Amino acid sequence: MSSSHVPDLRTRYLGLELRSPLVASASPATGTVDGMVRLEAAGAAAVVLPSLFEEQLTHDQVEVQAYLDAGSESFGEALSFVPEVTDYNTGPERYLGLLGEARERLSIPVIASLNGTTLGGWAHYAHLCEQAGADALELNEYLLAADPSDSPDVVEGRYLELVEAVVASVDIPVAVKLSPYFTSFGHLARRLVDAGASGLVLFNRFTRLDVDLDTLELHLPVDLSTPQALGLPLRWTGMLFSSVDASLAVSGGVHSGLDAAKALLVGADVAMTTSAVLKGGAAALTGIEAELTEWLTEHEYESVAQLRGSVSRARVPDPSVYERANYVHSLTRYASRFQPR
Ligand SMILES: Cc1cc2nc3c(=O)[nH]c(=O)nc-3n(C[C@H](O)[C@H](O)[C@H](O)COP(=O)(O)O)c2cc1C
Repeated sequence: MSSSHVPDLRTRYLGLELRSPLVASASPATGTVDGMVRLEAAGAAAVVLPSLFEEQLTHDQVEVQAYLDAGSESFGEALSFVPEVTDYNTGPERYLGLLGEARERLSIPVIASLNGTTLGGWAHYAHLCEQAGADALELNEYLLAADPSDSPDVVEGRYLELVEAVVASVDIPVAVKLSPYFTSFGHLARRLVDAGASGLVLFNRFTRLDVDLDTLELHLPVDLSTPQALGLPLRWTGMLFSSVDASLAVSGGVHSGLDAAKALLVGADVAMTTSAVLKGGAAALTGIEAELTEWLTEHEYESVAQLRGSVSRARVPDPSVYERANYVHSLTRYASRFQPR
């Protein structure tokens, strides 16, 4: 093949045909239709809307209850007692409106995101997202196992229940975005796929807990990632490739075309990016695509399909690199170069 040949970037994710593996993940950058149009123009192959959070659903359900309790005449008065949760995403009505408008104005797939912890109205809202035009759903499952009396099985059972309920209520594909903090992540991944998940997004990030030393208040700052965050998604994508029958998305630490190439090499179908876009604007995606294309061309890959998974655990000569064994080598190498000061 001539090195000037333009590589074929196309990939499939959740059964959707994408022009490239670069997806704009959920964040304020996908929170307006204009923002999503800019991302599409800059090369995003799909967009994931910010999540509709359970707190917002609860607010909506409280509104309905207030309406029922108070009668329609005093609806407004009853509502004034309902706390608003509007800082990030404005609530279900506006969310569905945003989704519908995005579907009309964009030609790339539009993925809605639901962030929940309990069964609540999830199945219902998943169905409404499908009706509003979502091409797929991302379930951002954010359950912290805070109660020490809950066994891992109980906690994981909640994840599975939620997936089963949502998958049963829609015809569009459902991906699950997870945190890596499970004893046997691969086992849970398989169970989620058996429960109907078409894809796994690795990973969700918990907000960082911090203490303000002046006020002694706790707070949860939102940090942007650095490329170092890529290590964990790379490891688990490489471990799951060809061992689960689902699409895989790397989310966390993709800041360059080289990061995206690494995600594909371990087996991702798509590389998602948020922090790079929040820092550099939509144009960051154009740069990532150009760098990925250049790398593929230089290394004489004809397509993304050709390199995908080639350094996954199933394909490397020494799979133990993915496991603890190599830890010893890495530490030994570090120690041999360490100069005490
Ligand atoms: C400001 C901000 C808002 C985010 N909002 C959401 C969200 O609504 N739903 C979600 O699933 N992830 C959300 N994320 C997480 C991102 O989608 C992404 O998974 C994470 O930032 C890691 O990717 P990155 O390293 O490319 O930033 C948010 C991240 C940031 C920084």
